[in-house]
Amino acid sequence: MTPPDPAALRHALADRLQERGILKTPAWRKAVESVPRELFLPTFFTDRPGPDGVTRYTPADAGERLALSYQDETWVTQLDGHLTADTADGPTTGFPTSSSTMPSTVVGMLESLDVEDGMNVLEIGTGTGYSTALLCHRLGEDNVTSVEVDPAVAVRADAALERAGYSTWTVTGDGLLGHPRRAPYDRTIATCALRRIPYTWVRQTRPGGIVLATVGPSAWSYGTGLAKLTVTGDGTAEGRIIGRASFMPARAEAVLPLSGDLSARAAYADSERPTALSPDLLNDWMPAFLAQLAAPGAQLLRVLGGDSQETVHLFDTGRESFASLTADGSTWHVRQGGPTAIWDAVENTVMAWQDAGEPDITAVHMKVTRHAHTYWIDGRAGLRWTHPLPPLGG
Ligand SMILES: C[S@@+](CC[C@H](N)C(=O)[O-])C[C@H]1O[C@@H](n2cnc3c(N)ncnc32)[C@H](O)[C@@H]1O
Repeated sequence: MTPPDPAALRHALADRLQERGILKTPAWRKAVESVPRELFLPTFFTDRPGPDGVTRYTPADAGERLALSYQDETWVTQLDGHLTADTADGPTTGFPTSSSTMPSTVVGMLESLDVEDGMNVLEIGTGTGYSTALLCHRLGEDNVTSVEVDPAVAVRADAALERAGYSTWTVTGDGLLGHPRRAPYDRTIATCALRRIPYTWVRQTRPGGIVLATVGPSAWSYGTGLAKLTVTGDGTAEGRIIGRASFMPARAEAVLPLSGDLSARAAYADSERPTALSPDLLNDWMPAFLAQLAAPGAQLLRVLGGDSQETVHLFDTGRESFASLTADGSTWHVRQGGPTAIWDAVENTVMAWQDAGEPDITAVHMKVTRHAHTYWIDGRAGLRWTHPLPPLGG
């Protein structure tokens, strides 16, 4: 069988992205048609659920890699901060720590960045380097600075970018600090999710410039929003959530699963009551986003007991507060403890949103100052959240 022609695969990918309204401008179309994604995916894992429901990651077969590279899929390239597909000896479980994000997400974000010729861009999360290469094609390699926190990932991305013909500024380091040496930037874009926008990015982006990043104040893997903020001259950045987006969390912000006896953490409740809402609501994206705004820092865990009864826990370890919900028939009960009544906050927020007619995530405004992140939905009582920032040197 003749192998597929990479140029034809790139063209077909561009067609599909354009038909879906994701690829909009000729310059980005040219970039998609020119940058060979397979160069950035010399090895990767495919994934599918195992018999126990836990995802198994399998090194992609050499004969399939080219065609798979042009599917609109995210391909995981590293697990648990070290394991790559060329070092794995078969299907394995693990936590994805680097990947090539699906082209529709990458291209959608690049289109939203509103770049113009000659602009310089700071990218956080080089990963495989594919999105970096698209930026280099569009703006020129001298106008792109990309920061990757994982040294092994950064080395592979550098090599792939060279193979593709780009000698751009790749930096190994914590992107939450930006890269002051090449600042100010016209655009700052992150391809990892954040609990909050680092103020360093506001400082390193020029007034009128844009910061585009996925935020979720509690670092859940879903219920996150793509924030597009314009930096103003007075040291703030303001804008809105322009859609849903999901990315692996920035390394320093990744939340370790709580260990130990969870019921001990919830042993002493200050109050107990039937709930007004079912926690099943939190399976939906927008209520999950709102819950993170209402209870920043709260981890969500679902635990099945020996009696097959599910308990939904929200733990805010920073504030030593918890809410634990169990069902009694069709009625849910919540036990809450600690200084913050987490479920009260979540329920009040979700009910205010329901009263407001359940506006979409794009109704959420956002402002970042040196001292706080504020989110709000216009003209609605109970739909404003201020998250003070810890003092920062940045
Ligand atoms: C989803 S991947 C990036 C995808 C990439 N843009 C591409 O097209 O292949 C996210 C990357 O962000 C990196 N990352 C996580 N936290 C970071 C941080 N604090 N600073 C810089 N990079 C970070 C991860 O190591 C990972 O490689």
